[in-house]
Amino acid sequence: MKKIKCLVTAGPTREFFDPVRFISNPSTGKMGIAIAEAAAKFGWEVSLVLGPTNEFASQNIHTINVVSADDMLTESSKLFADTDILIMTAAVSDMRPKITNAQKVKKDALKMLLEFEQTPDILKTLSQQKTKQILIGFAAETENIKLYASKKLVEKNLDAIAANSVADKNTGFASDNNALILITKSGKEINFPTNSKRELAKDLIKTISQEFFS
Ligand code: CTP
Repeated sequence: MKKIKCLVTAGPTREFFDPVRFISNPSTGKMGIAIAEAAAKFGWEVSLVLGPTNEFASQNIHTINVVSADDMLTESSKLFADTDILIMTAAVSDMRPKITNAQKVKKDALKMLLEFEQTPDILKTLSQQKTKQILIGFAAETENIKLYASKKLVEKNLDAIAANSVADKNTGFASDNNALILITKSGKEINFPTNSKRELAKDLIKTISQEFFS
C-alpha cells in the first residue's frame, strides 16, 4: 500500500526588522514535532517545515528549517502538490515590518521606522491550491475558542481545525501538555482532554486517520 504523505508545519516564524531584532511569538514547535513523530510512527511519510526553535525531530522525519512566514510558505508550497494531508500547527507571525533594514537601527530612530504589514496566510494560500489534500489547521485562541476556530475552518476552507487554548499556562505555547477540540467541516467535535503533547499527538493522528483515510 502507498504511504500517506503528511506535511506538518511547526514552530514560530521570525520577522526581522534589522539584523538583530525580530517579531515573533512564544511557540516552541513541541506540538507540531509531536504530531510529526506520531504520524511517522503511524506509518506515514512525514515532512516537517519547522520555524526557529531549540526543539528538533528525529532523523526519519524530513525536516526543512525556515525563519520567516515567506520562507515557510515557499517551502510548504514546494511540497504541497505531492502531499495527502497538511497539518498546519505553526504559529505564523501575523505581522512583519514593512522594511527590513540591512544595518542595526539606532534605538532613537526605531519608533519612526517601524511600520507593519500582514504576512501571507499560508494555510489560506495553500487551500486555494487544494486538489486532493486534506487540510487541518490549528486555531490558537485565548477566548471564544470554538466560535473563532469554527470561523477559521470556513474562512480557510479546511477539513478540520484543532481548537487550542493558549491562555492557560498548562496547555498551549511552550508547555509539555495540551488540550484540543477537533472540529470537522461536517460539524463533528472531538475532545482531546489535557494530556502530554506526545500522547495527544498519537490520539490525534489516529482520529484523523479514521476520519479522513478509512
Ligand atoms: N496561519 C497561516 N498563516 C498565517 C497565520 C496563520 O497559515 N499568516 C495558520 C496557522 O498555522 C493555523 C491557522 O492558520 O493553522 C490559524 O492560525 P491562528 O494564529 O489561530 O489564526 P490567524 O489566522 O492568524 O487569525 P487571528 O490571529 O486573527 O486569530
